[in-house]
Amino acid sequence: MDRFVIDGGRPLRGTIRISGAKNAALPILIATLLTDEPCLLENVPTKLRDIRLTIRVLEAIGKCVDVSGSRVFVHADKPLKTRAPYDLVKQMRASVLVAGPLLARFGWVRVPIPGGCAIGVRPIDIHIKGFEDLGARRVLEQGDLILDSPLRPGRVRFKFPSVGATENLMMAAAAVAGTTVIVNAAREPEIEDLGSFLAAMGARVSGAGTSTVTIRGSRTLRGAKHSVIPDRIETGTYMLAAAATQGSLRLAGAEPAHLKALIAKMRAAGAAVREGRGRIAVSMKGRPRPVSVVTAPHPGFPTDLQAPWMAWMSLAQGSSRIREEVFENRFMHAAELSRMGARIALSGETASVHGVPGLSGAPIMASDLRAGAALLVAALAAPGRTTVQRVYHIDRGYERIEAKLRAAGARIRRVRR
Ligand code: UD1
Repeated sequence: MDRFVIDGGRPLRGTIRISGAKNAALPILIATLLTDEPCLLENVPTKLRDIRLTIRVLEAIGKCVDVSGSRVFVHADKPLKTRAPYDLVKQMRASVLVAGPLLARFGWVRVPIPGGCAIGVRPIDIHIKGFEDLGARRVLEQGDLILDSPLRPGRVRFKFPSVGATENLMMAAAAVAGTTVIVNAAREPEIEDLGSFLAAMGARVSGAGTSTVTIRGSRTLRGAKHSVIPDRIETGTYMLAAAATQGSLRLAGAEPAHLKALIAKMRAAGAAVREGRGRIAVSMKGRPRPVSVVTAPHPGFPTDLQAPWMAWMSLAQGSSRIREEVFENRFMHAAELSRMGARIALSGETASVHGVPGLSGAPIMASDLRAGAALLVAALAAPGRTTVQRVYHIDRGYERIEAKLRAAGARIRRVRR
């Protein structure tokens, strides 16, 4: 298991180029299962572990995938299977997204039910209820979910705007002739991007990115070309790292419209944030003012930036509160930040963060992807040496992170096991 060794306390300066969004590339890659024709995807963060795993899932189902830089060419040379292998699904929950396209095309699919993970139980009941609303029957066998019977178009109403369930149902609806309406859909930018790809494949999609998505599907979808949106969570993480190190960074290829909640909160805390076309610049002097946040589905404050936000607020001139409303167990980073001198008290879904003048380097461990990102933000800001263990979590979602940070002046190196 690799680890990062960071000598912190140095301001980040310069320009970092943002990669394509992992959480958009992932469902879009899976949506290629909707056609036998070739698809070309650009701006895919192909170095990420989760994207590599998604490609393996596609290959296990029968697609051929050629990767060249950030371009991915997906085609098929044999009939597709309607099963996803457990050893891949258990490594990446989002593999369950293959259920929608395969069920819609072939009327039968078998996927292992993903287990819980470090940030909560994470059931898939909203996905399943959506498929049932479109006529699927379900059977549970040996920990696998089997869905069968042909889908029909219809109306699906979610009890919560789940990102994954919205994507799964959109992909299914795209391959079912007739009009399907998804009510209380997730509104994340990644949903909008998937909607654009499905439209390029020949589905009629309206309302993607709003709470009601309408899809007029077609039994035969065509191959398409698409360029993935920039990663707003990667962007937000570097914005917070720039602020926490009292530096000045430009994020090239970023999309400010996707980060309104973070930008507003960072300005309230005292950071200077400039928005341009395809770029964001952040600079910060001194410690932030304490600013409280509550996570919520988009356009609220993203749960994926809650942990890096906590790292910055650990250094505030006063106390703030962070309420996690999306996942039930997403404060694993608090104890690790405390090892670096942060003062954080947890009570249920609320963290009270009492700012300290400075953090100090320590050996720490990443428990999940965004917790790992928070520890990096803290380590970059903290004078002294920090060793971050279990870097594989960070590698799931941040492409070439040490190279990008080094180019901005950070002292960070990867030690291979
Ligand atoms: C996606 C993102 C993840 C982000 C999350 C919320 C990807 C690959 N991952 O995850 O980075 O943190 O959105 O913005 O895009 N839930 C249920 N039943 C379900 C589905 C979800 O109870 O059937 C609950 C989950 O346990 C969780 C909440 O709803 O508490 C949000 O989950 P969801 O929006 O589905 O997130 P993901 O798609 O898993």
